[in-house]
Amino acid sequence: MRVERVLLKDYTTLGIGGPAELWTVETREDLLRATEAPYRILGNGSNLLVMDEGVPERVIRLDGEFATYDLKGWVGAGVLLPLLVQEAARQGLSGLEGLLGIPAQVGGAVKMNAGTRFGEMAEALEAVEIFHEGRFHIYLPEELGFGYRQSRLPQGGIVTRVRLRLQERPLEEIRRRMAEVDAARKGQPKRKSAGCAFKNPPGHSAGRLIDERGLKGLRVGDAMVSLEHGNFIVNLGQASAKDVLELLKRIQEELPLELEWEVWP
Ligand code: FAD
Ligand code: EPU
Repeated sequence: MRVERVLLKDYTTLGIGGPAELWTVETREDLLRATEAPYRILGNGSNLLVMDEGVPERVIRLDGEFATYDLKGWVGAGVLLPLLVQEAARQGLSGLEGLLGIPAQVGGAVKMNAGTRFGEMAEALEAVEIFHEGRFHIYLPEELGFGYRQSRLPQGGIVTRVRLRLQERPLEEIRRRMAEVDAARKGQPKRKSAGCAFKNPPGHSAGRLIDERGLKGLRVGDAMVSLEHGNFIVNLGQASAKDVLELLKRIQEELPLELEWEVWP
């Protein structure tokens, strides 16, 4: 186990966030120790807006045994989803294609029920192991209250590993599906972001609504509404959390949108 003071901007895809004590856990024993005081669990930091002041709690990050996987057995919650998507395809296993291009860890993808219109994390799960109240419990996906970009995990629960629901399929079929998902993501920016900032209101695309309001390119400091996709806020370089909050506020003054991101603290 490693404990260090870090800046969370180095652990979020937006590149924003102040100081915290980072606990990198590698074994189950580590996890027991790390959770003895108030904590937060960090995945790949791709759906997080972390304040410039940082967070007072310990921030736990999964590595070691939590970053190992066997596609036909248990998959650690600290494994990167893009790696699994590619590896499953290589092994002729179908079920993760719809998650192509989502820069999450498995645990963060479960928590957010990450997905695209081609599929969501919940559909690819057979079982989920969650650590809470000092013990490891196994859940079926139907017990976890999955919905559009949401789940109901037990309070303080940390996903530690999952079993995936994958099916052997011809390679060409898997590749074709991946190409389709890839094409649907072509309009998304490559700059530093945390994916879509807002959830889509039923039957609408938040990105299109923001676009139609003429808000693309709206800028506070180095935080800007992407010119490519209205629902992405990009960090042009030195954006602060304060800049991003102000930008979110200006968008929400125009449109009643619900945030998809998690905000820390
Ligand atoms: P983090 O951002 O680190 O954390 C998010 C939440 O999950 C926090 O509450 C955190 O505490 C919790 N969490 C993390 N790990 C665990 C764990 N092991 N156990 C319990 N809780 C945990 N999302 C989509 O749904 N679809 C997309 O198409 C998509 N495209 C994206 C494209 C880009 C370029 C980017 C930057 C983001 C995109 N996202 C997308 C958003 C993001 O990738 C997802 O929300 C993802 O699920 C976040 O996972 P993470 O591991 O980065 O979690
Ligand atoms: N559109 C515009 N202007 C924009 C953005 C979009 O006119 O600025 C139009 C597009 O042309 C398209 C429609 O709106 O006709 C829908 O856009 P898109 O296909 O990009 O889908 P989306 O609803 O904006 C959702 C998810 C993305 C996911 C894509 C691909 C949400 C909030 N967003 O975006 O997920 O990658 O579909 O399936 O559900 C995320 O959640 O972080 C995320 C990136």
